[in-house]
Amino acid sequence: MNILVTGGAGYIGAHCCQELALRGFHPVVYDNLATGHREHVRWGEFFEGDIGDAARLDEVCARYRITAVMHFAAFIEVGESVADPLKYYANNVAGSLQLIRAMVQHGIRNIVFSSSAAVYGTPQHVPIDEEHPTHPLSPYGRTKLMVERILADCERAHGLHWMALRYFNAAGADPAAQIGEWHDPESHLIPRILDAARDGERPVQVYGADYPTPDGSCVRDYIHVADLARAHVLALERLLAGDSGGVFNLGQGRGYSVKEVIRQAAQITGKPLPIQTGPRRPGDPPILIASNRKAQDRLGWVPEQSRLEDIIASAWKWHCKMKELVHGARCTVQG
Ligand code: UFG
Repeated sequence: MNILVTGGAGYIGAHCCQELALRGFHPVVYDNLATGHREHVRWGEFFEGDIGDAARLDEVCARYRITAVMHFAAFIEVGESVADPLKYYANNVAGSLQLIRAMVQHGIRNIVFSSSAAVYGTPQHVPIDEEHPTHPLSPYGRTKLMVERILADCERAHGLHWMALRYFNAAGADPAAQIGEWHDPESHLIPRILDAARDGERPVQVYGADYPTPDGSCVRDYIHVADLARAHVLALERLLAGDSGGVFNLGQGRGYSVKEVIRQAAQITGKPLPIQTGPRRPGDPPILIASNRKAQDRLGWVPEQSRLEDIIASAWKWHCKMKELVHGARCTVQG
């Protein structure tokens, strides 16, 4: 069964292709390589193209008999989306419209959409369930919410079946380190900590230590990318079995502070990792923790690899391998 995976050369998309292949599906990766990596396409076919390119989308849909779509292709930097909103609306929203149009035109009925906890904005309560009001703080979060609404409208108008998976903090890497997180520039906490561990000289920046949290730093719900990948394939299987769709939170249901993550990373890497406290990063809510009850009940999904130490250990293994490949730099992987 061919599954069109837009953004399949990116971080989460590539892990989903691995899981799709493991579960007997055939991924067809559709990616423009603007932020993805050709080296990450290791399962299925590769078809270079942009989601905004209607003709290219028609070509890929005509060439392969596509059963369903997994849609990851998007820009993901919250700060950049504030500075350059048009870039985000053009790619994330207008690009998704082209994709959905192609689906309707080619009779493809099922889509799993990569959404984000960014749709909620500052939480009114934690854990955050799917009934929590949606007030995104950034254009990035708004693009994700808009696409969810477009999908709901297309369900009514065109019989599209969809599930939107709202990730909390995706982290970690394939335990065999074939693929992993590879952003340039990198803004996410765990890879930035690991960069500091590898360099051995720079302190880790903590953005804000005066939040109303136990140690003053922000608390986040980190979820292993392999658990995310498993959730996508479960969602796809449920859609193909005729289940109704909707939105689902994907998090482990437990939070860790920035300082806790740094302490854990120091243990795993064996590096001291001094910290430097700086000002708050604009737009960061103090605490984000998911309720994953709906995903458990409806998808039968339970996080299995999301212990913080497993997340960081897998990320470190990948990080060392990737940096060695790209820069020829070596670091030590313990255990
Ligand atoms: N942080 C630091 N130092 C750093 C980098 C990050 O202290 O060098 C802090 C941030 O301020 C935040 C936490 O670490 O409190 C996690 O930051 P990330 O950038 O790793 O992740 P975010 O929580 O900002 O963003 C993630 C996804 C977004 C998504 C959002 C949903 O990357 O795509 O969760 O809440 F929108």
